[in-house]
Amino acid sequence: MDIKKVGVVGCGLMGSGITEVCARSGYEVVVREVNDELLQKGLGRIKASMSKGVSRGKLTQEEMDAALARIKGTTSMEDFAGCDIVIEAVIENLDVKKQVFAELDRITPPHAILASNTSSLCITEMASVTNRPDKVLGLHFFNPVPVMPLLEMVRTILTSDETMEIARKFGESLGKTIVVAKDAPGFIVNALLVPYLLDAVRMLETGYATKEDIDTAIKLGLNHPMGPLTLLDFIGLDTVLYIADAMYEELKDPRYAAPSLLRRMVIAGKLGRKTGEGFYKY
Ligand code: 3HC
Repeated sequence: MDIKKVGVVGCGLMGSGITEVCARSGYEVVVREVNDELLQKGLGRIKASMSKGVSRGKLTQEEMDAALARIKGTTSMEDFAGCDIVIEAVIENLDVKKQVFAELDRITPPHAILASNTSSLCITEMASVTNRPDKVLGLHFFNPVPVMPLLEMVRTILTSDETMEIARKFGESLGKTIVVAKDAPGFIVNALLVPYLLDAVRMLETGYATKEDIDTAIKLGLNHPMGPLTLLDFIGLDTVLYIADAMYEELKDPRYAAPSLLRRMVIAGKLGRKTGEGFYKY
């Protein structure tokens, strides 16, 4: 099967990034948001990101215009009817995601692959509400999607070899390097990243070191682009807390137990860059 038309459910941070990368790779893309205000915000984010790409010499103005012309924004799920693959990037709530998968199963053609960009929730459960569990898998992108070269493909015990093969070719056509993980909490990256981020918060909480020193140590000692607390602000403290709680819920492993400071910062609305303040001010 040749993928020609891609659907993306959700035009938030991840959905807009996935839409941008697919359109820039030559695919027709239908992207859906729940209302026009959120849709316009998401489409604006895509334009701003592509303009940044143009100013950095990553694509030409003509390529940007052509990519934008390939994107159709909608607020209707029914517009996914002609898609060969649909990638779900809605909020990290299993009930909401299951509802989306059930609708996609009803709307999309029988050959269509249904993928989730979840970072921690059980993809097998999403597959279980469809009549095509063999065509369901995880496609976990990383933020910022146009810049990060990795794509984690997540295989459930029901995903077919054929689906994995088509999805791999599709991921490679987006210029991504593929790794394959099982449908286990956190897959590969978050299974390793989340305990590290939580430990950094514990270090700060117990007065082990200052936030600046923790970040500088990792940046300069390990050559990471960002220290852990800067990365927490970048991802969003609420997102990391949500992933940690989901992983702890399933595994009951203390490595995934969120420190009190993280939970309290989320309650206080200090979510990181998106709210203007997290561990740092923006
Ligand atoms: N399109 C194409 N290229 C773009 C672009 C765009 N919209 N925006 C930026 N770029 C390119 C730039 O041209 C530059 O390329 P070059 O190195 O060839 O010149 C490169 O991307 C870096 O861009 P900037 O110079 O603007 O920014 P920085 O050098 O400050 O890097 C960063 C920013 C890429 C965010 C870097 O700090 C970084 O990699 N941080 C870590 C990010 C990370 O870990 N992400 C994963 C989070 S975890 C996740 O997403 C999973 C989830 O489940 C939690």
